[in-house]
Amino acid sequence: MGTNRPAITDISALEIIDNRGRPTIRARVYTDAGCCGRADVPCGSSTGSYEAFDLRDGDARYGGRGVRRAIANIHDVLRPALVGQDVTDQRGLDQLMLDLDGTPNKSRLGGNALLAVSMAAAQAAAASLRLPLYRYLSADGHVLPVPQSCLINGGVHAGNDLDAQEFCVMPVGSPTFAEATRLVCEVFETLKGLLQRKHGKLATNFGEDGGYAPPLRTSREAMDLLCEAVTQTGCVGDVVYGLDIAATPLYDSASGTYRFDGRSRTPEEMIAAVLDLVREYPSIVSVEDPLQQDDLAGWKVVVDSLPGVLVVGDDLTATNLGRLRLAVGAGAMNALLCKVNQAGTVTECMDAARFAQRHTCPVVMSPRSGETEDDILSDISVALNAGAFKIGGPHGSDRGANFNRFLEIEAELGPVGSYAGRDFAQLA
Ligand code: PGA
Ligand code: ZN
Repeated sequence: MGTNRPAITDISALEIIDNRGRPTIRARVYTDAGCCGRADVPCGSSTGSYEAFDLRDGDARYGGRGVRRAIANIHDVLRPALVGQDVTDQRGLDQLMLDLDGTPNKSRLGGNALLAVSMAAAQAAAASLRLPLYRYLSADGHVLPVPQSCLINGGVHAGNDLDAQEFCVMPVGSPTFAEATRLVCEVFETLKGLLQRKHGKLATNFGEDGGYAPPLRTSREAMDLLCEAVTQTGCVGDVVYGLDIAATPLYDSASGTYRFDGRSRTPEEMIAAVLDLVREYPSIVSVEDPLQQDDLAGWKVVVDSLPGVLVVGDDLTATNLGRLRLAVGAGAMNALLCKVNQAGTVTECMDAARFAQRHTCPVVMSPRSGETEDDILSDISVALNAGAFKIGGPHGSDRGANFNRFLEIEAELGPVGSYAGRDFAQLA
């Protein structure tokens, strides 16, 4: 110490629940500037195997999903090492935690333990310096991303027979994030009416991304409904579409086949099916995880066959710099899905995003299906000038949190801010 930088005085963590009633960690970091930063850890359900390790108790509580061990690691290992440290040295704090963990995937202390403290430290530092978090993290953050809003859910996020996981609208033609939000919500309302008329009121039940989970069977049925809702809302020229196929859970490694749109397919047939789908709907501008996470050669075929379309790596890269180098080097993707808990610390998340941007891979920020009311990801997105943000459907305060934080940031930035709009894929 001996500097005038604010120092950490205490760290505490608590087991809370997320939007699906599963436990997660809320951490608080306190500083000698009299400030406190708070952060909650998200959790996915379609998780890739290259993600930071999510440490769970594995005992009788919460079906084994308790986080008491991870919390004990925060109190017993991280807290004693971090108290007294400069809270504004985010990179140094994150490195110290990585060293204390000492494993490649954070399996000793838990990626969830590290992330909770890493994010809460960033919030505490911003508060201590009296800065909004996006400004603390970057002097240049000014881009409000296109909300890629998932209005129809399938895959492991829904109790229906749709294999692909997310069908999203992207209001690129709106002049501001606020107007983009209005369009998303209006299309969402129109879609509700359409689903009720065509499939009955059960079709408007929700999936895990805050979109509807109607009883559809194929991607074309879902796309046709989305397109019809956009047409009826009167915003055809302003909206494009993004898909998350989330192919890893659709892949059966024993048989080497995918289950997609109602039937089993070889990898070649899966590639053909994805290419046909994207070509049939020219307004699809983004397709995430079209294939399972280890088929880099197949991914390259998709990238090469769909010029002008973002082929977004999620499970493929798991916001992991090593995986990202591999995938970019192989030409297997041209956009990064960036999830803070895949990385496991704020520094690693931002390093991965910046690596992608330096390699002309635009960044799509993404929450997880398991979220809380924490809105930190919106600030990280603005700090990174990410072009798009996979925000979920406008349903529930877990999804509303990010919409509302962006609205707040847009208002705060005023003329300094700019909505990514049609340039969203050039932001790299
Ligand atoms: P997850 O889904 O949070 O359940 O992993 C999000 C995604 O696949 O992008
Ligand atoms: Zn995904």
